Amino acid sequence: MKSNRRDFLKKTLYAGLATGVTSSYAGMAQSMNSGTEQGKASTDEHPRKGKSVMGLRCDPLTKVRIAVIGLGARGSSAVIRLSQIEGTHIVVLCDLLRNRIESNQTTLWKLQRPSAATYTGEEDWKKICERDDIDLIYNTTPWELHVPIAVYAMKHGKHVAVEVPAALTVDDCWALVDTAEETQCHCMMLENCCYDFFELTTLNMARKGVFGEIYHGEGAYIHDLRSYKHSQNGYHRMWRIKYSRNHTGNPYPTHGLGPVAQIMGINRGDRLDYLTSTSSNQYGLTLYAENKFGKDSLEAKVTYKLGDINSTLIRTVNGHTLLIVHDTTSPRPYDRIHKISGTKGYAVKYPEEKIALEPHAHNFLEPEEFKALTTQYEHPLSKYIGEKAKAVSGHGGMDYIMDWRLIYCLQNGLPLDQDVYDAATWSCIVELSECSTENRSKSVDVPDFTRGEWQNAKPWPVIDMETVFC
Ligand SMILES: NC(=O)c1ccc[n+]([C@@H]2O[C@H](COP(=O)([O-])OP(=O)(O)OC[C@H]3O[C@@H](n4cnc5c(N)ncnc54)[C@H](O)[C@@H]3O)[C@@H](O)[C@H]2O)c1
Repeated sequence: MKSNRRDFLKKTLYAGLATGVTSSYAGMAQSMNSGTEQGKASTDEHPRKGKSVMGLRCDPLTKVRIAVIGLGARGSSAVIRLSQIEGTHIVVLCDLLRNRIESNQTTLWKLQRPSAATYTGEEDWKKICERDDIDLIYNTTPWELHVPIAVYAMKHGKHVAVEVPAALTVDDCWALVDTAEETQCHCMMLENCCYDFFELTTLNMARKGVFGEIYHGEGAYIHDLRSYKHSQNGYHRMWRIKYSRNHTGNPYPTHGLGPVAQIMGINRGDRLDYLTSTSSNQYGLTLYAENKFGKDSLEAKVTYKLGDINSTLIRTVNGHTLLIVHDTTSPRPYDRIHKISGTKGYAVKYPEEKIALEPHAHNFLEPEEFKALTTQYEHPLSKYIGEKAKAVSGHGGMDYIMDWRLIYCLQNGLPLDQDVYDAATWSCIVELSECSTENRSKSVDVPDFTRGEWQNAKPWPVIDMETVFC
């Protein structure tokens, strides 16, 4: 009975999403904010069809044969990075634009790598997934293509690395989880911010107890993208501004959430329970359009549903809290916050990296003390590969650390640092924050994509030099 009601409410919600009818969120929020029983119901409605992939180990791959699909800003920089990791072979390059294929072939040639087979059709990703000489589909396409490609790839026995956010709806998050469990393939979301230097250092410090019990974390994606969103030469077919027209909430939560979630042991000892989300009005895209295209331009007249700033507050089952902020349309400096608050200390990354520790936590550490502490706790991954990563670049090196570690785990048959449950848990905030925002910030349950396994799962394993390699 309960299940049928929820199915009905869910269908109503999705009908609303398709038609943009705001009030359709009300049913879902009401149905989902009544606590743990509903959280359990959400899991009961998704009985496992395959086998858990928590800690999944697959056969080691001596050479990782890769297809990169989507060669825009992100895919092209991935080709540069992946070509500089030993034991990789980029077998396929795919994009709709021939000039992007050609420039990436040139990249391979300059880095003395063999040229790749090329594909340019709208649905050629299917043919690529059907090939039998590929191990990893590296999916750097626009948001709407993440799940169709990832699911099809896993169904054809390929591991998947997919850009952020991995999915835009709760149903699609479940589709990733279900398919990974059915196929026993890896599906990792490429949350590169988890591999930035200060994030890794604070992760290491957290694992070693320096902050005590961490009960609050904050993260954000604050990046003024107004000019890029409004440019015909920015995102392919202007996919990002189209999304801003039709959706609110936080469409891009994972850069802020990922690193803090890892530090707080989300899906490994704790899990996200429920959230409440609020957005401001929208000003940025309209004002920018008025200045650039004129007050009477179409760009200035259309409605952009995405509020300039969205704040999503999440509570965990263990009683901890996370605040995740999104703002891509305000005139302000870049900021991912990255704040950690524990019983013994506090760290923050923006606008300047700072740490405060008991018994003097009312002041930040002096620069020399900060340097000594962060050197002592530098994470083994950045210690091992950080210099090379900085040389290859990609957001200051974090992108290369991520790719290097992904390839290393595939080559050695190790579980990945970020699994499909993380991809789903971090990405589902897209729809849930929109649902709460549209419904006067009513609380919404976060599904347990691990189906209870978070209780026994161990935290992210790399805590010392030895564990990088086992
Ligand atoms: N992790 C990060 O730091 C980071 C930074 C920027 C973007 N991203 C993510 O990366 C993804 C891509 O972003 P971008 O900025 O590179 O966008 P983009 O628009 O520059 O590139 C997307 C590319 O996909 C291609 N494409 C579109 N449809 C295709 C299809 N059917 N088959 C093959 N190729 C197709 C387009 O031609 C384009 O070249 C997005 O998911 C975005 O959220 C992540």
